[in-house]
Amino acid sequence: MVRLGALAVGLFFCIAVLWGAVQPRDAVPVDPVKEAHQYPEKITWSHNGPGNLGILGTFDRGQLQRGFQVYKEVCSACHGISLVAFRDLSALGYNEAEIKAIAAEYEVPSIDENGEPSTRKATAADKFPPRYANEVAARAAQNGANPPDLSLMTKARPDGTNYVRSLLLGYRDEVPASLKASAPEGLWYNPWFHSVFIAMPPPIAADGQVTYTDGSPQTKDQYAEDVAAFLTWTAEPKLEARKETGVAAVLFLLVMTGFGFLSYRRVWADIKGKKAKA
Ligand code: HEC
Repeated sequence: MVRLGALAVGLFFCIAVLWGAVQPRDAVPVDPVKEAHQYPEKITWSHNGPGNLGILGTFDRGQLQRGFQVYKEVCSACHGISLVAFRDLSALGYNEAEIKAIAAEYEVPSIDENGEPSTRKATAADKFPPRYANEVAARAAQNGANPPDLSLMTKARPDGTNYVRSLLLGYRDEVPASLKASAPEGLWYNPWFHSVFIAMPPPIAADGQVTYTDGSPQTKDQYAEDVAAFLTWTAEPKLEARKETGVAAVLFLLVMTGFGFLSYRRVWADIKGKKAKA
């Protein structure tokens, strides 16, 4: 009797599994946002080193300067990079006078001689002032959206450098039919953004928008690539030093492994030699 019961339970489970296996797949509805969402396109970056492996590599100083120019002329209208100090820009190849001139274009909060809050011209030691005083002010100015600070953006998103580039080039006019009904008013369709509808108007709109002085192509692609490289530097200014330290550490360990092996041979030489003779 117990056996029959066990058999019935077993049969029930077998039938349930088979039933599940033959159910049509589309019984589970697909999420149209997930279907439309795209992953960043992977391109080659000088800071990823040979083979784009990410083990070695240095920033392309010319590219960083162009990226900074795109940030300054386009993105800074809405986004801050408030973790970067003006003097950090020396890593991009600017000299002291150039940095002073860049800093002088910005105003930072200060206290005047009467002790009243006021502003003064920034110096090399200041950080880039935030674009908005706080999130409420940002949302009030940006139609309810909050343009995030970009200092650490490439670290805050998976595959951040490629993501920023893809996002900037990712605006599409054609909204897929499955999303048309749910398209929010006043947002732009961009399948690289996690929710595919973004509140940021296309910042890089046309070739020729920013004028480069070094003869690089003045194309949307180039702008997006340059600013993504610049934001990689803001997020990790010590990337090159980190990679150098890594290589030095691996070389050191290799040499020490060699020494370790030699001393092992020496320490055991007697015993192993006797064994071989015996
Ligand atoms: C007119 C204002 C404006 C300009 C100019 C602008 N942005 Fe934005 N940006 C926004 C807003 C608003 C958001 C928030 C979008 C949202 O949450 O839907 C945003 C979000 C972002 C994000 C975050 C996306 C995410 O995954 O959360 C990145 C990265 C970004 N912007 C990069 C840039 C870069 C690079 C530039 C310059 C080339 C730029 N933005 C220029 C308004 C702007």
